[in-house]
Parts: sequence; structure tokens; C-alpha cells
Amino acid sequence: MKDIILKKFAEVFGDAEGAKAYFAPGRVNLIGEHTDYNGGHVFPCALTIGTYGAARKRTDNKLRFFSMNFGHLGVLESSLEELVPSGEAGWTNYPKGMIWAFGEKGMKVPCGMDLLLNGNIPNGSGLSSSASVEILTGHILRDFFDFKVSNQELALIGQYSENNFNKVNCGIMDQFAIAMGKENNAIFLDTADLSYEYAPIVLKGAKIVIACSNKKRGLGESKYNERRSECETALAELKQVTEINSLGDLDEETFEKVKSAIKDEVRVRRAKHAVYENRRTIHAVEALKANDVEEFGRLMNESHVSLRDDYEVTGIELDTLVEEAWKVEGVIGSRMTGAGFGGCTVSIVKDEAIDTFIETVGKAYKEKIGYAADFYVVEIGDGPRTL
Ligand code: GLA
Repeated sequence: MKDIILKKFAEVFGDAEGAKAYFAPGRVNLIGEHTDYNGGHVFPCALTIGTYGAARKRTDNKLRFFSMNFGHLGVLESSLEELVPSGEAGWTNYPKGMIWAFGEKGMKVPCGMDLLLNGNIPNGSGLSSSASVEILTGHILRDFFDFKVSNQELALIGQYSENNFNKVNCGIMDQFAIAMGKENNAIFLDTADLSYEYAPIVLKGAKIVIACSNKKRGLGESKYNERRSECETALAELKQVTEINSLGDLDEETFEKVKSAIKDEVRVRRAKHAVYENRRTIHAVEALKANDVEEFGRLMNESHVSLRDDYEVTGIELDTLVEEAWKVEGVIGSRMTGAGFGGCTVSIVKDEAIDTFIETVGKAYKEKIGYAADFYVVEIGDGPRTL
């Protein structure tokens, strides 16, 4: 891949002299969904698929961007003086947002750059292609200008740029999972204080399979923000009767005792999901540590039911993929992953069942939904790096 992107770089930008190659992964969340902005736990991992980039510094202030995934857009030009988000800028809002965010954090980028990307994660699929581009850009900036930024700080700058430049009110999970990725390990992160622990994923005789619904997200972002504010309102109501900082502070029992403080049935269900999902995530990691993969899978299934019925972020596409997966013998667990409303599911599938899984779930999905899903057997990889 390094050769491919450097060759393309030379083709697009004249020559590749002084250009270097980089990589940042995508991510999948195994369990702990819609908990990261509720002060709860998440359990994501970085993937071996992600975004490749070739970049070099310029002597002027120009920014020139080219993506092999959006080749038809050609070279998109901008400059360090024009670090404002815009509709026409498309995907370049992500690298621009990072350059802007570094500046906001006191690390002013002194010169422009040429940047070429080639990603092998499906775009907009819920595997965090955008956070991958952000962390890749941050890593390049750190490499170019010797900024003293740890991977954890890179994650925070990524989230800052997503929130403040791209105006998506996301939590810390995606950028953290990507920046802190570690081969064969998932990251058990407490989003309340960013304490974390790596947990080896040893799936004897099974693999992680991602099914991409190919449903365009559409209303996803506004619904995401709606869920966030429903949780915030529920938290404010609960604070009237109990001393907590976030929904992640509650266990199931306490929640059941105090939930009547929430004055709306829908908000009770939203808060219930946040509380129970956080607890499920803690239990799932305990199960994994005890080598009980079956229990881990059962909790994944429960997570999906809660996201479907209480949090209502699934939809017919994700439900079909998951409910069909549950029918296949050899599926240990299956659930939607990421924000929802389209995107992907994640399943743990026994090796010998993978072909049947892809075939039968794929067939049922196409029959019911009318178009095909894509399947990826994935591996857990490291964070950002220079190639
Ligand atoms: C998106 C956001 C994350 C997280 C998930 C849901 O991926 O970017 O911060 O909230 O949705 O778990």
C-alpha cells in the first residue's frame, strides 16, 4: 500500500520527493454503545483496516488534498488562512479541522502540505472513517513539526476538532480507540475519567465479523444529538433526587429506585439504556477475563435489544442483520455497533460458521431490504504510525 500511495502522490502532485507514508486504523466497538457521552464505559478496538496517507510539507501556506476514495473530486485546494468548515470542502473538513485544532491548542502549523489519502474502511459505515482521517492528520502534524503530543492527547484534539470545527457532538470513543489502538487488544475505557485498560481478545476458534448495512445514514446526526439531549435532561431530573455526575454513576438497582424522577416515559428508556449498557460493558469485560466468551456474546445480544427497544437507534436494516445472525448456529453474539441508524453490525462467529453466516445473513438481508450488505472478517490492529 505504501508504494501505491506514494506512486499516486507523484502522479497527483508532480513528484513524491520528500513525501512520507502513514496509516491510522478504523475502529469497531464490541460493547458499550451510546455510553461515552454519559460517563460510562466503552470497549472498542482499532482495526487493521483504516486510512493510508502520503504527505509532505510545503514551503508556502497552501493545503492541497486528494483522496483516492473520492478521486472524482480531484485536488481540493485551500490554505492555512482558510481554516473554516464548508460544505464544498467535503472530506477535507477533517484534516482542516485537525490543523485548526492544533492551532487552538497552541501548536500553530507553520506551513502548508500536500496530502493524499486512500482508505480501505467503507466510508460512512460506522467504522469511524472520519476519526481515522483526523488521527492520521494529527499523527502527520506531530511527525512534521515535532509537536509533543501523546496518542491520548491526539484523541482529545481529534474530538475537539470534531465537536468544534465539524460541529458533530460526538463523545471520545472513536478518536480514543483509534489513537490508542493495540494489536489483538480491545480498550476498556471509562469515559468519566479516561482511565483505561487493554484487554486481550482471545477468541479461540472464532473471529470478529462486521456486516455493513450500506444504508445511508440520513437523519443520523440529528437523531444522535437528540439522544444526547434526552440523556442530559434525564440526568438533570435524576440529580434532583440523587447525587450523581453522570448516568454512568448509577447501577441498575439504584436506577430502578430513582427513575420515577424522570418525567417522561421515553426519557426513562433512554436513561435506562445508558445505565444498563454501562453495567453490561463492565460485566462483559469481566466475562472475557474469565474466558467466558459465550457470556460476552450473550451480553452483546442484550446490548442490541436495548439499543433497539429502549434507545431506538437501530432501524430495520441493522435489526435484520442482527436478528438473522442470531439464527445462525456458531454465532456467539451479534449487535449493532457505532452510532446506529445504519452503519454496521459486529458479530463474533465461530470459524466453521463464517461462510454460512455471510451467505445466509447476506441472502436474507438482500431479500428483505432490497440491496446487499457487505461482510468483513476483521483483525484488531495498532494505532497511528509512520510506514
Ligand atoms: C458515534 C460517536 C461516539 C459514540 C458512538 C455511540 O460513533 O462518535 O462518540 O457516541 O456513536 O456509542
